Amino acid sequence: MKPPFYISTPIYYSNGVPHIGHTYTTLIAETIARYKRFSGYETKFSTGVDENSQKVVEKAEEQAMTPEAYADMMAAKHRAVWDNLGIEYTDFVRTRDPRHFEVVRDMLQRSYDAGDIYLGTYEGKYCVGCEAYKRDEDLNEEGRCPDHPNRDITILSETNYFFRLSKYQDRLLELYESQPDFVMPEYRFREIIEFVRGGLEDFSISREGSTFGIPLPFDESHVTYVWYDALFNYYTACTHGQERFFPADVHVVGKEILRFHAVYWPAMLWSVGLPLPKNILANGFFTIDGQKISKSVGNVIDPVEYVQRHSRELMQLYLLYAFPVGADGDFSHEHAVDAYNAHLANNIGNLLNRFLVLSLKIGWNIPSIPLDDDFANEIQNTTRTYREAMDRYELRKALEITIAFADFLNKYLDTTRPWEYASDETRHAELVRVLAHLGEGVRTLGVLLASFFPKKAFELLERIGRKSDIATIESWKLQESFQLRWEFFVAEKGVPLFARVEPKSEENSSTKP
Ligand code: ME8
Ligand code: MG
Repeated sequence: MKPPFYISTPIYYSNGVPHIGHTYTTLIAETIARYKRFSGYETKFSTGVDENSQKVVEKAEEQAMTPEAYADMMAAKHRAVWDNLGIEYTDFVRTRDPRHFEVVRDMLQRSYDAGDIYLGTYEGKYCVGCEAYKRDEDLNEEGRCPDHPNRDITILSETNYFFRLSKYQDRLLELYESQPDFVMPEYRFREIIEFVRGGLEDFSISREGSTFGIPLPFDESHVTYVWYDALFNYYTACTHGQERFFPADVHVVGKEILRFHAVYWPAMLWSVGLPLPKNILANGFFTIDGQKISKSVGNVIDPVEYVQRHSRELMQLYLLYAFPVGADGDFSHEHAVDAYNAHLANNIGNLLNRFLVLSLKIGWNIPSIPLDDDFANEIQNTTRTYREAMDRYELRKALEITIAFADFLNKYLDTTRPWEYASDETRHAELVRVLAHLGEGVRTLGVLLASFFPKKAFELLERIGRKSDIATIESWKLQESFQLRWEFFVAEKGVPLFARVEPKSEENSSTKP
């Protein structure tokens, strides 16, 4: 039996369509999921939509649809984005799903019975434009909402049910103390610890009078409010025969919702007697050409269009290589093209090409011979450090190691210069030696690339006659394979694995001298 591994993305608000920012988080989760699958885990990878909100009701009204029909339509749009990108999710959670309603109602009752939910009054400053309460520090100098400066702030008082978060402050601090990698990266964790040390307030979990949402089992005149509902999606994903996956190994989330996952969520789980996730991985936010991603700026990138126009590899390499998970960054198409051309088209693509061309010169296969120690050590160190990085979810580092290994192989070629004696019968043995080493190097590169670019990696293995490695890729027993008989078979040069992309002239011509 394979051990289970469960990774999730946030469930994205369904009143918009996913853009490249959402795609970023999803790509991080997918890459980790695939790596874990290749490492022998039975892997569950959930994503989905967050639907029970007032925004959905409003948007539906604008389009003269019922909220249900609108939610169905938007959920289908979200799925279509992930399906068009070829994202390998295993579960798609909808919070309109009756099984999710059941879960949340059950949890609410449990929390209520545990004394963690009570009826209280909240009074605060409220911006009607945002439909949200505001703290003083959220307002501008005139005491108005910076996004709606022409509206007066109103004082709103609501009778809501509250969750007793304050009760869990000490227990949370103990958790953080005992689990120094609970939130990754560390600098984001420190912000969370500071926040909790500063004191916790109970938070509102219900709204009165709304009908589009999950009614509280102990007071049907209220529905649950956003976060209590949304966070339990991770539990809903693990019902109906999927119980062995709960709790999650890692929740991947954007930094702006880290607090909900690292503070609210553990307390909510304790309240209902469920175990906590092992890790929460917070990704930073990126801007596009220096500006926040927004419809009004007009810089929203549709990931499906982007991938159709360029390639999934280009988008994925850039997003996962340009910034470490956790750091904020800036997306620039020009830089994406440069990174793709430098690392995938030139470095890795050319290496494979050189190997294929040389192999064709010596006939149809390359036999197995023992590898030089230095070369074997390089492979072993590379796969070890790569796996250490991946196990810590350091995707950029793993890509750096992969690229450095391709550099090493290109240098090996540059120093052994086999093309100079490829036609010299007397040096045939030397040629075979070099190509056998390179072959094993290229094969290793294929294994390293597989978690990031599975299609390309499998194509690479196929091109060198190692298609059978795809089935055994998950054993990761590269070192042991030296003891086996291995050989490579190259039938043809074929088209470049990673075609070079020309920097788009029509888009940037105005900015060019
Ligand atoms: O917050 N850079 O949904 P949401 C990086 N429904 N990541 C980005 C990004 C950017 N510019 N823009 C979006 C919600 N993201 C809730 C979640 S979970 C129980 C409920 C990613 O549609 C990032 O992961 O606002 C962020 O946390 C998420 O999309 C927000 O998606
Ligand atoms: Mg958001």
